Amino acid sequence: MTDTLAQTDDALAPLDFAVTRNLAAKSPSERAQLLENPGFGTVFTDHMVDVCWSVKGGWHRPRVQPYGPISLDPAAAVLHYGQEIFEGIKAYRHADGGVYTFRPEQNAQRLQRSARRLALPELPTEYFLQSLRELIAVDGDWVPSGEDQTLYLRPFMFAKEAFLGVRPAQKVAYYLIASPAGSYFKGGIQPVKIWLSERYQRAAKGGTGAAKTGGNYAASLLPQAEAYENGCDQVVFLDADGNIEELGGMNILFVMKDGTIVTPASETILDGITRNSLLQLARDRGLAVEQRPVSLSEWREGVASGDITEVFACGTAAVITPIGALKAAGFEDAQPIGELALSLREELTDIQYGRREDKHGWLHRLDA
Ligand code: PLP
Ligand code: COI
Repeated sequence: MTDTLAQTDDALAPLDFAVTRNLAAKSPSERAQLLENPGFGTVFTDHMVDVCWSVKGGWHRPRVQPYGPISLDPAAAVLHYGQEIFEGIKAYRHADGGVYTFRPEQNAQRLQRSARRLALPELPTEYFLQSLRELIAVDGDWVPSGEDQTLYLRPFMFAKEAFLGVRPAQKVAYYLIASPAGSYFKGGIQPVKIWLSERYQRAAKGGTGAAKTGGNYAASLLPQAEAYENGCDQVVFLDADGNIEELGGMNILFVMKDGTIVTPASETILDGITRNSLLQLARDRGLAVEQRPVSLSEWREGVASGDITEVFACGTAAVITPIGALKAAGFEDAQPIGELALSLREELTDIQYGRREDKHGWLHRLDA
């Protein structure tokens, strides 16, 4: 499985970005200090990309400009009706100094699927890739080289038309910002404790669960707060039939006694690119992979009987995290810790950082 560009984008002329340099850009020593221990999502680079879209003009006014506040009309539709989508993707510094990203066409295509569901315009794959390259051209020095460090890229799109009627906006903005990142969880790669959300659901059939849209995350905040109150790091959601869906920001995978990897198949969850890549690496190792519904009782009974030997979560921001416990109002189950999650994590990150052969053609150079 080699990733290829969407065929339909071949004929597109590239966008002509107007670049305005940030005169207050951080000095190399200020930047080095910020890159020492960036944490997740708090430090931002000197520039951002934005492209406008309108019904009349299509995609226009592509810009690279200094990172800073966005001016919005208070009636902008996104502030009222949440018409917004985003992506999460990382840039990796390789030992030869090059800057690479991982399967960006997949993120471009998922942004297009999210756009369709949220009645937003589809950004062509070529424009998406170009926006990544344009930002790296000015902020490439922000891609850190420390162990497990990356530059987290956050493309997003929202309805900026000032109109209080409820209909798809006719004016939209696409932005790309970037944030140097270390580990997503404060504790690094420690097993996390997961809270089972029994009172709140994240998504429903026919809803927006498979789209990467802000509303899904807004809906996860209260159960996430409940998780923290109960000493847990993350929350896992069930669907209306009692099947496991996913975590607030990660997919979930189960390892069975015979090495088979099982992960929920559902139209209400995000089709994770990390998950798909791990399933491919598992198949390459000769392991069986099943995408099918997994009920809560299958999970609990499987752990109790030893049929499930490992449970882990994955996503771009958090990479792979073993699950050490599942807690709910009425029980707390310790989870078995195995070797597979960490060995897949090593294989995946070795590919991403250029330490291992990229057999599937997943890497995409951004700075050349
Ligand atoms: N599920 C949710 C709700 C997410 O926010 C994410 C993160 O992007 C994922 C799953 C994992 O997706 P990916 O591996 O593409 O980052
Ligand atoms: C990502 O992993 O890129 C995400 O968007 C998850 C988010 C909760 C940080």
